[in-house]
Amino acid sequence: MQPFQYRDGDLHVEAVALSALAETHGTPLYVYSGGAITAAYQAFTHAFASHPHSICYAVKANSNLAILQLLARLGAGFDIVSGGELERVLRAGGAPERVVFSGVGKTAAEMQRALEVGVGCFNVESAEELQRLQQVAAQIGLRAPVSIRVNPDVDAATHPYISTGLKENKFGVAVDVAADLYRQAAASDWLQVTGIDCHIGSQLTRLGPFVDALDRILALVDQLNAEGIRFEHLDLGGGLGVCYQDETPPLISAYADAILERLGGRQEQLIFEPGRWLVANAGVLLTRIEYLKRNEGRHFFVVDAAMNDLMRPALYQAWHAIEPVTTHDDRPAITGDIVGPVCESADFLGKQRTLRAGAGDLLAVHSAGAYGFGMASNYNSRNRPAEVLVMGDQAHLVRARETLDDQLRLERLVEI
Ligand code: LLP
Repeated sequence: MQPFQYRDGDLHVEAVALSALAETHGTPLYVYSGGAITAAYQAFTHAFASHPHSICYAVKANSNLAILQLLARLGAGFDIVSGGELERVLRAGGAPERVVFSGVGKTAAEMQRALEVGVGCFNVESAEELQRLQQVAAQIGLRAPVSIRVNPDVDAATHPYISTGLKENKFGVAVDVAADLYRQAAASDWLQVTGIDCHIGSQLTRLGPFVDALDRILALVDQLNAEGIRFEHLDLGGGLGVCYQDETPPLISAYADAILERLGGRQEQLIFEPGRWLVANAGVLLTRIEYLKRNEGRHFFVVDAAMNDLMRPALYQAWHAIEPVTTHDDRPAITGDIVGPVCESADFLGKQRTLRAGAGDLLAVHSAGAYGFGMASNYNSRNRPAEVLVMGDQAHLVRARETLDDQLRLERLVEI
């Protein structure tokens, strides 16, 4: 599904004109297509239809309650990394038993709450964490379902900041350490081994690293099975890439075929933790050009969105397609950097882009549905954008624009 299309020169999301949304809600504004998220979820689950599986959406990619609600209704489980994400899932109507809890730094309080609500599995990332989980479980008398996150030491061949499966990364434990932890867990009254997991990185555009990781996981599964340790599920993490510019990530069917073929006749349930693949291309960030500035012969489209709203270009030199919301073929084509008002040279959304646009025009920054709003901050005391979810011809404001009062609510002046 291509949710963003021009009709008579006006970019629409599903049946709604983006210009109308900007008029009603102002800019910068995140806009998501519910239809695109639904289509992506269905394509994923369809590709694995022949094998028992659970799609646990990685909440960090976009944690807006309405998006979680939509995915919960579609039948998704959730991959969480904090107590905050757990509460979001519960409030959105997600089923706790369909939650996997990842992350290297779970606190005792987070573990206790997750045990009490009955999360499906703790993806444990270290010996120290396993020990803490056992203590917390024993204290409150609830057995903890456990998977050990294996770091398979494969190169995901993606940006180093979003690569997680190499042995120098902080994530997971080496294969031999994992085997030891499983033996400990199997011997514990308070831990229940249910699965094994890995996640090697994000925005992967080739199948090779996924298959290599799976091979290493399966070798460990065989070894532990031989010792009498059994698994209900194999969690292969997230990471499947999307097209931002000209990448050609594998089709979901090719990804599924490669994994199912490697799996042979094994019966364990598969769990996936996709984030970006489900939501990235379902979202845009709308922004208005405030000024067209010329400096030393260079042009700058100074827009009202900034690195605090969409951090990916500044943080990873990520490339996002940027298009005018309304086409103006009569305007001159200008090549320039698209920059925000924040006082940092890294505050850009795109560099050396050619646009037929000028001051007052709206731009759509594409592929902003994943790791967009979720990574937004109040840097420079900027209010975070509003968010709108569109389904067909209906637009729902799913997060109001922040106000300065929201920003200042927790701060106090001192008596001096
Ligand atoms: N599972 C675990 C344990 C993860 O750490 C992540 C992402 C995912 C699943 C989902 O990965 P995905 O399917 O979305 O690739 N902020 C970066 C991405 C950071 C990803 C962190 N972990 C970006 O904007 O590219």
